[in-house]
This record gives sequence, structure tokens and C-alpha cells, in this order.
Amino acid sequence: MNNLIDITKTFVKAQLAQAEGGHDWFHIERVYNNAMLIAKGEACNLEVVQLGALLHDIADSKFHDGDETVGPSMAWQFLAAQNVPEETIIHVVNIIENISFKGGNHEMKFHSIELDIVQDADRLDALGAIGIARTFNYGGFKNRALYDPSIPPNLNMTKEEYKATTAPTLNHFYEKLLLLKDRMNTPTGKTIAEGRHQYMVDFLEQFYAEWEGEK
Ligand code: ADP
Ligand code: NI
Repeated sequence: MNNLIDITKTFVKAQLAQAEGGHDWFHIERVYNNAMLIAKGEACNLEVVQLGALLHDIADSKFHDGDETVGPSMAWQFLAAQNVPEETIIHVVNIIENISFKGGNHEMKFHSIELDIVQDADRLDALGAIGIARTFNYGGFKNRALYDPSIPPNLNMTKEEYKATTAPTLNHFYEKLLLLKDRMNTPTGKTIAEGRHQYMVDFLEQFYAEWEGEK
């Protein structure tokens, strides 16, 4: 079935050819590699992890008018066309549908170790130096200010408000990125997240010092 993974890589690469820099094929490749690393420490179905990692951002709703059904149905069609067993397809689609779960009052309907692994792998790519780069790239893509001291972070936004926000990019660190290390699922994910978290804390300290002209 290795062939299926190669075919999936080719499909995803083509799908993401025009993607924003933080959600492009290289993001998928990093998440895939993170997922493979985390999977080594867990008893899991590796093929489901691989397919979930490769297909998790195939049609991110952020870039499809908020439509959260495009990605899952595209993945379903692709996997069905490759004659993948329905049980595997259902699991992979469940991963895609639940990976972005933001916590709060929504009840999560699906759980599996394979989802935990892919979610950790995706979250790791939101942290550290790459996380910082992706965040400012996305802010630039949305033409947002880097920072504005008069607009504080808002930790109580609904999912819809969060998607529609025009707040400065630095707010995203407080609204999401700095919260991720305490939400990691796996021991490997937690360990790597700690180091990347500290790197962002140091970055923010330096940022404010430079903002004030102190350094
Ligand atoms: P997930 O797929 O886990 O829901 P997202 O796709 O929302 O994560 O975010 C992935 C990355 O895109 C973030 O880590 C960040 O770098 C960037 N990003 C998403 N939303 C914002 C935002 N409002 N401001 C700045 N960057 C953002
Ligand atoms: Ni992703």
C-alpha cells in the first residue's frame, strides 16, 4: 500500500499548488514528518496517520469561504477512487473534520490515537520558529497589522468571530499559539511543544523590547 501514500502525496501537492505559504505542501510535509515521529512512540494504524496528515488541509475552510465540508468530501472522493476500504476512509475523514477543534464548549464527537497524533503534528507546526513565520505570513496574506498596543487579545471569541477577526497578528499568539502546549495529546508532542513554546515566549519578549527601542 506504499503506493497509495505516494499517490496521495502527488494529489495533495497538486491541490495545494496555489496555497498560502503557511498552508502549502511544505506545511503538509512537515506535519507528515512530525506525525511519523510521534507515531513511533504510539501503538497506532500508521496508514491512517499518514493519510490523515497528508489530507488534513486539502481544502481548509479558511480558504473556501468558511465551508468546512469541502476538505472532507474531497478526501472521501479521492480515497474512494483509490479503492481504499470504507473503514479507513471514514477514519481519515473523521480526522480531517476534528483536527481543528478549538476546545471550549463544543463537544468533540470523535476520538482516536491516530487523530491525537495528527493533531499534535499539526500543532507542532504552529509553534516555534516555523510557527512564528507562518503566523506573520498569514497576517500579511490578510493584510493585518503586526502589532497594535491599543487592540488587546480577545480570548473569548466564538469560532466565527475568530475566523473573521482583523486583529493584529501578534494577538494570535495569545489567542491560540501560547495555549497549544497545554493541549498536546502525546508524550512526544508535549516534549517538542515545550521547547517551541519557550522559543515563542523569548521572541515576544524581544519583540516588545525592540518596540520600545530598548534593544
Ligand atoms: P488549525 O488547522 O489547527 O485550526 P489554523 O489553520 O487555524 O490551525 O492555523 C494554522 C496557522 O495559520 C496558525 O498556526 C497561524 O500560523 C496561522 N493563522 C491562523 N489563523 C491566524 C490568525 N488569525 N492570525 C495569524 N495567523 C493565523
Ligand atoms: Ni495544518
